[in-house]
Amino acid sequence: MNQRPAQARREHARTRQARTRHARCAGLAVAILCAGGWPARAEGDREYGAYLASQCVTCHQATGKSAGGVPAIVGWPPDQFAAVMTSYRRKERDNEVMRTVAAALSDEEIAALAAYFGDLKATGGP
Ligand code: HEC
Repeated sequence: MNQRPAQARREHARTRQARTRHARCAGLAVAILCAGGWPARAEGDREYGAYLASQCVTCHQATGKSAGGVPAIVGWPPDQFAAVMTSYRRKERDNEVMRTVAAALSDEEIAALAAYFGDLKATGGP
């Protein structure tokens, strides 16, 4: 009879330990999920891209046509688009206009533009 409380305490302690372990696992799972969330967040914000694109479509056609020596830039895979913009910014790619345009853009802005233009489809017709 007087062993019971001690046993109960031990049981209780064990349960608490198990709970602590559980909580730690949950914390780890959340950490992993959060880490997994980063690449998705690195993807550009399309709405922001649409806003930024107003400065690009004075030269580039949003319809995906090349016009007046300005190439089409819609429907590209975003990482490829971002790589090209980054190489203009680093002055590795040759074109004064695009170097100047890219120099003013942050990584986040380039990602946003890549997401926006990447989603546009070239439309047919004149
Ligand atoms: C003043 C006109 C002008 C503006 C504004 C402009 N571009 Fe360009 N862009 C060009 C020209 C011209 C080229 C072609 C350069 C060449 O032939 O080397 C080009 C090339 C590019 C290319 C590479 C295309 C390819 O096929 O290699 C990308 C990507 C691009 N521009 C994105 C943008 C983005 C994004 C913006 C807006 C932030 C922008 N451009 C603003 C004129 C412009």
